[in-house]
Amino acid sequence: MSKQSAAGAAAIDPTDAAPAGVAVTGVRKTFRTRRGEFVALQNVDLTVRPGHFVTLFGPSGCGKSTLLRIIAGLEVADAGAVSLFGDAPAVAAKKKNIGWIPQSSALLPWDSIRSNATLSDRVNRRADRSRTTARAPLDADEVLGELGLGDFLDSRPSQLSGGMMQRASIARGFVQGAPLLLMDEPFSALDELTRESARVQLLRLWEHYRKTVVFVTHSVEEAVALSDEVVVMSPRPGLIAGVVPIDLPRPRSTIDEDTPAFWDAVRRVKELLRTGWTGEE
Ligand SMILES: Nc1ncnc2c1ncn2[C@@H]1O[C@H](COP(=O)(O)OP(=O)(O)OP(=O)(O)O)[C@@H](O)[C@H]1O
Ligand SMILES: [Mg+2]
Repeated sequence: MSKQSAAGAAAIDPTDAAPAGVAVTGVRKTFRTRRGEFVALQNVDLTVRPGHFVTLFGPSGCGKSTLLRIIAGLEVADAGAVSLFGDAPAVAAKKKNIGWIPQSSALLPWDSIRSNATLSDRVNRRADRSRTTARAPLDADEVLGELGLGDFLDSRPSQLSGGMMQRASIARGFVQGAPLLLMDEPFSALDELTRESARVQLLRLWEHYRKTVVFVTHSVEEAVALSDEVVVMSPRPGLIAGVVPIDLPRPRSTIDEDTPAFWDAVRRVKELLRTGWTGEE
């Protein structure tokens, strides 16, 4: 991976016994376009503590996907550093420490839902027998059951609705066992009601297994409902306007979404999005 990432791993204090799940420091990313150089991300710092659920929220084009791709090691920053549990992204990827849950489910059509949920794990084991990270293997049937797919373990993806396929894709992310899950708008293709139920099921699953998650969404309610922290980004150039901690108690349910505390958090996120900068830093 890049020199920047290697430097990033080194930038983490080696005496720190528990490095951050995700530590992004001073990341800058430019793209060359026909109209010249475009600054997609400028001086982005982000810390996600292990076992925390953090959401990147902001308008279209503010750099959410670019930042997530840089964290995943799919894109290289021009400057700055990324460390994932103390490793550069390329090293973390080699150790199979990164789970990527895409916008569309990308399930294998000829395989059962159960097979799809475990497939990557089998592939990963074959590809890398030397993986060193300790992880508790999750039971695919149990995780699929928790996501309401217990009656569909032997079904093919084509027999499932869009929402069910997306839940199967999330199950696969959890079953694979990577401690870090990166999700780029996993519910964006779903209708509003399906999206709400998928959100509730993800919430339950995450509250059970407590992975470190970086999630991307356009929906402020979704961001607040799921997260420990909402990172508000603003565009041109893409930067972090501020972070809103979500102190709502866990475990959470849809009932909690009709409380003054929930709407207060929604208001704070929206305010930060409007003003773009809190002036607190
Ligand atoms: N490969 C690329 N080449 C040129 N410009 C790019 C490239 N990838 C992203 N960009 C630009 O960088 C900016 C950030 O893009 P990005 O996809 O990260 O935004 P986003 O916040 O994820 O948006 P959305 O909410 O619409 O998914 C956009 O203006 C986009 O046009
Ligand atoms: Mg995007």
